[in-house]
Amino acid sequence: MSTATPIPVRSPLPSALSGATAVLIGGSSGIGLAAGVLLRSVGARVVLVGRDPDRLKAAVSRVRSASPAENPDDAVLGVAGDGGDEQTLAEAFDRAGHVDHVLVTAGDIGGAGPLTGLSADDIRTAFDSRLQTAFTAARAAATRLPAGGSLTFSSGILVVRPAPGMAAPLSVVGAVETLTKALAVEFAPARLRVNTVRFGRIDTPLWRSRPGLDSDEAIAAAGSTTPLGRFGTAQEAAASVLFLMANNYVTGQILTVDGGETLT
Ligand SMILES: NC(=O)c1ccc[n+]([C@@H]2O[C@H](COP(=O)([O-])OP(=O)(O)OC[C@H]3O[C@@H](n4cnc5c(N)ncnc54)[C@H](OP(=O)(O)O)[C@@H]3O)[C@@H](O)[C@H]2O)c1
Repeated sequence: MSTATPIPVRSPLPSALSGATAVLIGGSSGIGLAAGVLLRSVGARVVLVGRDPDRLKAAVSRVRSASPAENPDDAVLGVAGDGGDEQTLAEAFDRAGHVDHVLVTAGDIGGAGPLTGLSADDIRTAFDSRLQTAFTAARAAATRLPAGGSLTFSSGILVVRPAPGMAAPLSVVGAVETLTKALAVEFAPARLRVNTVRFGRIDTPLWRSRPGLDSDEAIAAAGSTTPLGRFGTAQEAAASVLFLMANNYVTGQILTVDGGETLT
């Protein structure tokens, strides 16, 4: 995994992702799905990975309908399965044929609750739900991506603004941020980049599935307390991912996209 050749110089604009292929682990909803739509709009190929086959099928149709390609069926693929499963990711990479970029937005918030009430299994669940997927994706990326490829993880601002009862899930998400920096130096000789986007509150099905937040009015009211006065859109969140995929001189970074929430 080492090369004397520097990482390629290319246009750092998202339009330069035209013709590239991205595997989006967690691409059947929210930020991952929005990344799929944006990537297709600049002419990239995408492979969406998610567990629920029906949700995945709907997402593939949604991204295909946003496609400028003459042959969108080849440009948008779906692979159903768990992102923490090596076979699932092997299938996704194999079907893609060639992969330049990987995004990981998969990962439930497992193991929430006061520490004294958590069992060892609860804590293991927190690990499995997020860190396992990150490691599996990283191992696949390390062996399959070319020089100039990238791996992007996701985290959240609760890592720096913790809430009670979140010790297990937040320590795991914090570990993803640490993994980002560790892998950035480990993968740099292969000219692969690793970054994380730390999201604030983004309007996705993740929020809309919560009690009392299933309407535009409720989301608007909840978002009014942020410095910029609203939740971010999935598209705004996804655009930060395209920035990281396209810019060949950014690695090991945690990019915060939170409407200023961590400033307050
Ligand atoms: N939205 C926010 O405000 C916010 C804030 C901070 C951090 N984040 C983080 O950003 C990421 C994306 O959030 P989102 O709002 O886009 O969530 P979302 O709308 O719930 O989408 C999550 C996607 O990941 C898939 N997924 C979950 N676990 C998976 C697994 N083990 N293997 C494969 N696919 C899996 C889901 O599909 P299936 O369930 O069908 O697999 C779904 O497609 C999450 O990790 C979330 O914790 C979000």
